Amino acid sequence: MFGFWKTWKALEARGIMGINRRNADYVLKYNKRSLYPIVDDKIITKERAIAAGIHVPELYGVISTEKEIDKLDEIIGGRTDFVIKPAQGAGGDGIIVIADRFEGRYRTVSGKIISHEEIEHHVSSILTGLYSLGGHRDRALIEYRVTPDQIFKSISYEGVPDIRIIVLMGYPVMAMLRLPTRQSGGKANLHQGAIGVGVDLATGLTLRGTWLNNIITKHPDTTNAVDGVQLPYWDGFMKLAAGCYELCGLGYIGVDMVLDQEKGPLILELNARPGLNIQIANDCGLTLRTHAVEARLEELQARGVIETVEERVAFAQELFGHIPPVEG
Ligand SMILES: Nc1ncnc2c1ncn2[C@@H]1O[C@H](COP(=O)(O)OP(=O)(O)O)[C@@H](O)[C@H]1O
Ligand SMILES: [Mg+2]
Repeated sequence: MFGFWKTWKALEARGIMGINRRNADYVLKYNKRSLYPIVDDKIITKERAIAAGIHVPELYGVISTEKEIDKLDEIIGGRTDFVIKPAQGAGGDGIIVIADRFEGRYRTVSGKIISHEEIEHHVSSILTGLYSLGGHRDRALIEYRVTPDQIFKSISYEGVPDIRIIVLMGYPVMAMLRLPTRQSGGKANLHQGAIGVGVDLATGLTLRGTWLNNIITKHPDTTNAVDGVQLPYWDGFMKLAAGCYELCGLGYIGVDMVLDQEKGPLILELNARPGLNIQIANDCGLTLRTHAVEARLEELQARGVIETVEERVAFAQELFGHIPPVEG
């Protein structure tokens, strides 16, 4: 714990963004309320992404009412793996990742056996709003289960790692790879117990990690080093994230992406209030970078110029590459 606070204090001097500043100067300023449903509802996000030609995990079906729970069998069909999640969920809550069938039941990615009745009951809980923001009635979506690219085998435990990039007005500002652990039950959300690993924006090379508020260099389950891993398709991920600005119109977002073994890079979801722990994993504060983007936007506006996705990515990669700390 002590190490964590020391790091946080050191980061403060380097422009760390706290929750109040994030809300006042970024979320409220750049995210129009009327656009929230696009990111707060994963079904709407998916529709938008598909319309924009951006790849997402295939939607098998949606259940909106208790009566429609009867459709579950039909939606699942002969599939042996799939994912059920609340359309308006957050933080990995309410997501069940089914990896296989077992004697008339299902096996989750972390090995738990569950019955069809239990799945129906879970869907019913989703509908009542148990996992939704503000407890509102929700819809359940059933989608393709992502199989992570082989590259993640040595540094992740069950489930799918995801890549989170924070994007301000279409400019990527910071990135993190999130690795599921035994504790996180196949989900890559930090508060479920996943690891956050910083990523060099310029190169896609991983930096060190943060786990349960500690700084780490090895995966607790696989004991392999989490730093120095080259993420494939890095420029592609950067462009995908930057392009999400045009997709949703929100100026300050966290873009969650995965690398599927067969389908390649996919967008999982967008977040209008992205977490701040990404700064610990990157050993760097967000505000220096967000200020740089804001200064850039001002300068471009004065010249009447709007940059393309490629130009925005190039700007971010040139300015926000990782500078190794000076040893001493
Ligand atoms: N289709 C999927 N296939 C496999 N794992 C998934 C899938 N969807 C989500 N997950 C796992 O659950 C985590 C959280 O999913 P996400 O869609 O981002 O919802 P949330 O809003 O709860 O964070 C992901 O980071 C991933 O590890
Ligand atoms: Mg997420």
